[in-house]
Amino acid sequence: MSKISASKKIHSIEDARNLAQKRMPKLMFDFVDGSAGDEKLCEINSTALDQIRLEPKVLRNVENRILKKKFLDIQFDQPFGFSPMGMCNLTWADADQMLANESIVNNIPTCVSMASSTSLEKMFELTKGRSWLQLYNFQENFVMELLKRAEQTGYKVAILTVDVPIQFRRAKDNKNGFTVPFKIGPKQLLDFAMHPIWSLTTLFNGIPKPMNYETSKNGNKFIRTESRGATDWDTLKRVRDSWKGKLIVKGVMSPEDAIKIKNSGADAIQVSNHGGRQLDSATAAIEALPIIRNALGKDFPMLFDSGIRGGSDIIRALALGADYVMIGRPLMYGIGADGAKGLRRILDIIKDELSTALGLVGLTDINDITSEIIAKKFIQNMKY
Ligand SMILES: Cc1cc2nc3c(=O)[nH]c(=O)nc-3n(C[C@H](O)[C@H](O)[C@H](O)COP(=O)(O)O)c2cc1C
Repeated sequence: MSKISASKKIHSIEDARNLAQKRMPKLMFDFVDGSAGDEKLCEINSTALDQIRLEPKVLRNVENRILKKKFLDIQFDQPFGFSPMGMCNLTWADADQMLANESIVNNIPTCVSMASSTSLEKMFELTKGRSWLQLYNFQENFVMELLKRAEQTGYKVAILTVDVPIQFRRAKDNKNGFTVPFKIGPKQLLDFAMHPIWSLTTLFNGIPKPMNYETSKNGNKFIRTESRGATDWDTLKRVRDSWKGKLIVKGVMSPEDAIKIKNSGADAIQVSNHGGRQLDSATAAIEALPIIRNALGKDFPMLFDSGIRGGSDIIRALALGADYVMIGRPLMYGIGADGAKGLRRILDIIKDELSTALGLVGLTDINDITSEIIAKKFIQNMKY
């Protein structure tokens, strides 16, 4: 009797999350799923998106629908990409390779975290040039080294994440003893023993390491909790001056900051509260989005992430002023649930929902989305 593949049981992001929770050690699942402080903002992000209701429109001939979208003068086949996430191979061995494959299949960008489990050079090769490099301002000499390596490799887009000057407390990680590199005591051993497939696959493929650091020419070491507190406007200026490609500043929630960042020469802003993994008392990211769009004017390129859990959410974000949307945790839920097949399943669900929702709001081209598609009672003072 043939066994039903786990991905056949995935009909929603929530299904994938539940399966991933069973297959992954608690230590790893909580690292992906967890938030900061009171652990509420991740949920608040998605609930706030749910509360934005769209207006169905009828009799518009929506038989053929276009999802292709340009962002920063690059043509993509979908209006979404993969947000940077550190140490993806901890979710499942080869997660980075799976993301890279889907990046090619869907012709969309994969953001490579500074703390990625595959080096930026290898990711560029695996994505056939579709990767973007994300940086924190850890040791500045290392930031400059990575920018140089990225330029030499052929990267065209870099992202400076600015919302982690200090890392907020992560209660679950602290409780589970999550550290990079691993410290394995009796509690972690028991957790791994209870998830033998994950443990054997991970052991077989080699324990994941922060590979940009492992390949550092200056011997820089990854210290997850290291303060980046000294990052300021001069840091942004130095990064801008050192990078000839497009520069996105990620983790912006204030309209005043957004205007200053635009004036400092950045090419785009990513509105994000880090998926609720930083200031736990921040507002839902989607609530900041239209305010920042109003502050920046309609033409400044803007990305959005934090709380996207399906195709309708992507449409909501585009209607509230985003030009391009980034997906985070759902990718890891898919991979945690059933590896490459689980990831494919999650993306199929998102794309199907995206295309259907587009038709049901009466549009045939994703580029035609405006705030007009939002139900009237939600848009009294909005126009984009
Ligand atoms: C496991 C994990 C690791 C992350 N690592 C990074 C990172 O290295 N750099 C970064 O800019 N953002 C990082 N993020 C934040 C994501 O890029 C994104 O902002 C967030 O996941 C969006 O929220 P959502 O997953 O709830 O949609 C990480 C998020 C997760 C879940």
